Amino acid sequence: MNAYATMGRGTAAIVCDLRSDTLTTPCDGMRAAMAAAKVGDDVYGEDPTVARLEGAVAERLGKETGVFFPTGTQSNLAALLSHCGRGDEVLVGERQHIRTSEAAGASVLGGIAIWPLAQGADGVIPAEAVRGAVKPEDTHYPVTRLLCLENTLGGVAVPLAAMGEAAEAGRGAGLAVHLDGARVFNAAAGLGCDVEQVAAPVDTVSVCLSKGLGAPVGSVLVGDAAILEKARRWRKMLGGGMRQAGVVAAAGLYALEHTVDRLAEDHARAERLAAALREAGATARHATNMVFLTVPEGRYGALHDHMTGCGVSIGGEAEEVRLVLHRDVSDAALEVAIAGFSEFFRKSLKLTFRTQ
Ligand SMILES: Cc1ncc(COP(=O)(O)O)c(C=O)c1O
Repeated sequence: MNAYATMGRGTAAIVCDLRSDTLTTPCDGMRAAMAAAKVGDDVYGEDPTVARLEGAVAERLGKETGVFFPTGTQSNLAALLSHCGRGDEVLVGERQHIRTSEAAGASVLGGIAIWPLAQGADGVIPAEAVRGAVKPEDTHYPVTRLLCLENTLGGVAVPLAAMGEAAEAGRGAGLAVHLDGARVFNAAAGLGCDVEQVAAPVDTVSVCLSKGLGAPVGSVLVGDAAILEKARRWRKMLGGGMRQAGVVAAAGLYALEHTVDRLAEDHARAERLAAALREAGATARHATNMVFLTVPEGRYGALHDHMTGCGVSIGGEAEEVRLVLHRDVSDAALEVAIAGFSEFFRKSLKLTFRTQ
């Protein structure tokens, strides 16, 4: 059972897939870069393209070094395992991917306790909540070691000041700080700052190349050399040591060079989609590259079927359906989606008025 794969399967004529930015496929330029990549055995430390990618991501984020992972889940997990030991505790925002969607790997494999922190719709974890969750020195409690933040969170770019205050509260209590930066470049674009500023208050950042940046696979964990040495060992133990991985690292390098600057286009399209939905009478909000559409009660199935008929795939059933803009959604595809949604909501409104 895979909650993410229920929609959009077997629909040959989909022209606009809004389910996720993980759905991007490598463009011709990226494929050419992959084909031309110089490779070696990366477990032997001999793949020059992987080394270039690790260095490039670390440099962009202002950190000492990096390690290339197959996925963001493994990169986050290796970070937690590197910062914490068995019986330690990590404080994680309640809506963060590490808590909700990574199968509790840190607890299962590392014996690490996960303590959820409440966070508002703006993704902010108040400094007071961090301080209040750190356990006192007492044999009844685990040892609180790490604070995990996420930016963007549910598409929302968490302001630098709020991130800094939470991180400072953690540091003040002797904690290390990790950032799940799966979409950290979207956060920087949304905040209008350099990505290095988003990474500045934390020790380690996991950056995904396979979301808005459009690479088929891969994440890079960055931080200082001592913690990354541990993470490299964890990667091997978790089965993530890859051999001629330069082929996929080349896609990551291409993504860094060619797709970071275009993320603002996805954000603008998300804004346009949300505005068009509101114009059609729907309730919708947007945050960076995501739109959250409130589905009228009991109408998800009808909306899904209508949009599929229009050639548009939408996210799975929820009170607010997530619509994600990404490199493979062009202006033309967006117009198809807008026309489909507008027709649905105009008809729905007419129905509502008739039944009143
Ligand atoms: C915020 C966040 N962190 C981590 C991940 C995990 O990435 P992966 O799917 O590469 O394991 C995701 C995946 O969607 C994510 O959205």
